Amino acid sequence: MSLQPIGIFDSGVGGTSIFKEIHSLLPTENAIYLADSANAPYGPKGKDRIIALSEKNTEYLLNKNCKLIVVACNTATTNAIQHLRAKYDMPFIGIEPAIKPAALQTKTKAIGILATKGTLSSELFSNTTQLYANGIKVIEQEGEGIVQLIEAGRINSIEMTALLEMYTKPMVAANIDYLVLGCTHYPYLIPQLITILPKHIKIIDSGLAVAKQTKAVLEQNRLLNESLIQPEINFYTNGNTAVLKALVGDNFNVEYLSF
Ligand code: SIN
Repeated sequence: MSLQPIGIFDSGVGGTSIFKEIHSLLPTENAIYLADSANAPYGPKGKDRIIALSEKNTEYLLNKNCKLIVVACNTATTNAIQHLRAKYDMPFIGIEPAIKPAALQTKTKAIGILATKGTLSSELFSNTTQLYANGIKVIEQEGEGIVQLIEAGRINSIEMTALLEMYTKPMVAANIDYLVLGCTHYPYLIPQLITILPKHIKIIDSGLAVAKQTKAVLEQNRLLNESLIQPEINFYTNGNTAVLKALVGDNFNVEYLSF
């Protein structure tokens, strides 16, 4: 049993989609969320820079006595999690695109994946694709510009709709029946994607799987918080607090922090 908080970081506000799944499964856990929005997006950055930013975020959360860190960013996971696990003696949970379930369930033998350049070009991504999607057509699409619009609070904008239509068109033409969202910002686009995509295409993300993995790792390490006290949950951003607040709602404390 541990009252220490779970630490969660992302390149920005997108990892709140993961926080929501974790909080819904583990409602008594204390948590600290770091949105590194001043450095978003991570997707176009080189591996060394992504590792340096991930280390900076980890050090902050370690200093806050976190018991486990969720790297709630696909780009940081695919580029930096091996480094973080080797450097810090604590559990890390990463986010990998849900290629395996999509590849197992596709009937058309074609799946789409929307992710950042940093994720699509990573070794971890290519290994996962080779392992699970052998014999399946994988239509990869870089979601250039999407994260910037979400960070600017423009989820429901004309520009966003135009980008989503442009990025999914070749996937629809290739007869995909699963669209994998390979960036933690993208679950916020599901309502729009549902209106754009043909009805038979299923959209999947990794949120619930990550929450279940977080619970399992806390259990294995006897770190679950079993107290019935109202949890303390704080969100910090080095970017725009209003954008973060709009996504997490009024029940949580959101503050600006220079880190
Ligand atoms: C980004 O910062 O470019 C996106 C974050 C992610 O890959 O989840």
